[in-house]
Amino acid sequence: MPADPRDQVRAVPGRLPLLGHSVSLLRGPVKFLASLRSHGELVRLHLGPLPVYLVTTPELAWQILAVDADKFDKGIVFDKMRPLFGDGIATSNGEFNRRQRRMVLPAFSRGRIAGYAASTVTPLAARLADSWCHGQVVALDEELQDLALSVSGQTLFSTELGREVLDEIQRSIPIMLDYVLVRAFSSKVIEKLPIKANREFDAAAARLRKVIPDVIVNARADGGDHGDLLSTLLLATDEDTGEPMTDEQIHDEVITILTTGAETTAVALAWFFHEIGQHGDIERRFHAEVDEVLGGRPATFDDVPRLGYTQQIVNEVLRRNPPLILMRRTRETVDIAGVSLPPGTEVAVSQHTLHQDPRWFPDPARFDPDRWAPGAAALPKGAYIPFGAGARLCPGHVFAPIEITIAAATLAARWRLVPLPGKTVYPKITATMQPNRLPMTVIARHE
Ligand code: HEM
Repeated sequence: MPADPRDQVRAVPGRLPLLGHSVSLLRGPVKFLASLRSHGELVRLHLGPLPVYLVTTPELAWQILAVDADKFDKGIVFDKMRPLFGDGIATSNGEFNRRQRRMVLPAFSRGRIAGYAASTVTPLAARLADSWCHGQVVALDEELQDLALSVSGQTLFSTELGREVLDEIQRSIPIMLDYVLVRAFSSKVIEKLPIKANREFDAAAARLRKVIPDVIVNARADGGDHGDLLSTLLLATDEDTGEPMTDEQIHDEVITILTTGAETTAVALAWFFHEIGQHGDIERRFHAEVDEVLGGRPATFDDVPRLGYTQQIVNEVLRRNPPLILMRRTRETVDIAGVSLPPGTEVAVSQHTLHQDPRWFPDPARFDPDRWAPGAAALPKGAYIPFGAGARLCPGHVFAPIEITIAAATLAARWRLVPLPGKTVYPKITATMQPNRLPMTVIARHE
């Protein structure tokens, strides 16, 4: 039998029988992923029993995500999520995915984003700021999850039609997100066991499958453009056939957007306040900018260009705290770093590896928003990819930083958030690397 070309790829040391490198990953994900560069530009690691070929340089990341994007599917994690997402744009592949993306992307145009900011982000962030009082201790991670879910929900469904569904989203999406990775990495047998994780996940998915279709049917009958995401999805037509999406397709895109958009944004916002709580000098510059631009009022879409330092903090938060890993699977033989990877090979890119590379980010462990100051040297393609890149670039990549900037500035216009002494905060190993907890004391900044 001819030798498997993949055998030439250097295996990452420390693999355990059955568990592979999962223990190293669980113990210290950021340190482990950052260390992989020292083993080569293409390395083999084992997630449980599954061999995964991970690239560690910007050039190879760019090859996989952009240049050779057509040669890859999303791979195993997304296959496992298909029962939840259906064939939405995060899980589908090939030509079908390209057509769906063309129909969904207009919902994320700048004009639409300005509308979402005015109708949801600014008022909901201002409402959260109004709900706090001086001296109160808040579970900030939870408050920000609620905020981001409300923003996602109301961005999708702006009309009265969506009221019932919004309540259900607040109840069901957090349950599904808690269990989604367990689902992704467990075998079919475990998925079917009547354990709590499966029961709660299935019940939440079923509740959403029950309420969302009614909203779609009613909104289609209504026919108007309400400026929300659902209207854009309903009005979109396929370039070639002129056909709109079916109700089933819209349903899958709605669930996909709800599950991919809210938690990622909430987690970035949580790390934003954690980081500035650790760095008094950065916090002072942030507060000075917020005071100068806003003078105590909530931030709007038009304020964003003037909140330049706030945006630098957002960039640095996304460098240090991106999602865990991007997975792909070869559809055909692909040559990577001189090795022919046959079809069906699981391949990965980790932003934690790329974003900790001292060639582009000197002293990478340091939290330094000035890396992003105007005039900073341009980075090579693939070096900084918090939203992925190429054919599957996150459709929320413009909206999310604007949402985070508006929400952070609106909260900081009135409140300082102070970490509780003695509480260690670290990333939990989930798809989004959320903080384990984030209790903070709310202190009035003015009056
Ligand atoms: C800070 C916030 C966010 C981060 C860090 C983030 C990150 C990412 C990343 C890394 C991917 C690429 C996954 C891959 O290539 O495998 C992705 C895809 C995606 N994101 Fe985001 N995202 C954020 C916010 C949002 C928002 C606000 C939305 C929608 C409202 C959204 C919707 C999606 C969807 C639908 C996909 C799948 C795209 C595809 O597979 O073609 N994301 N996101």
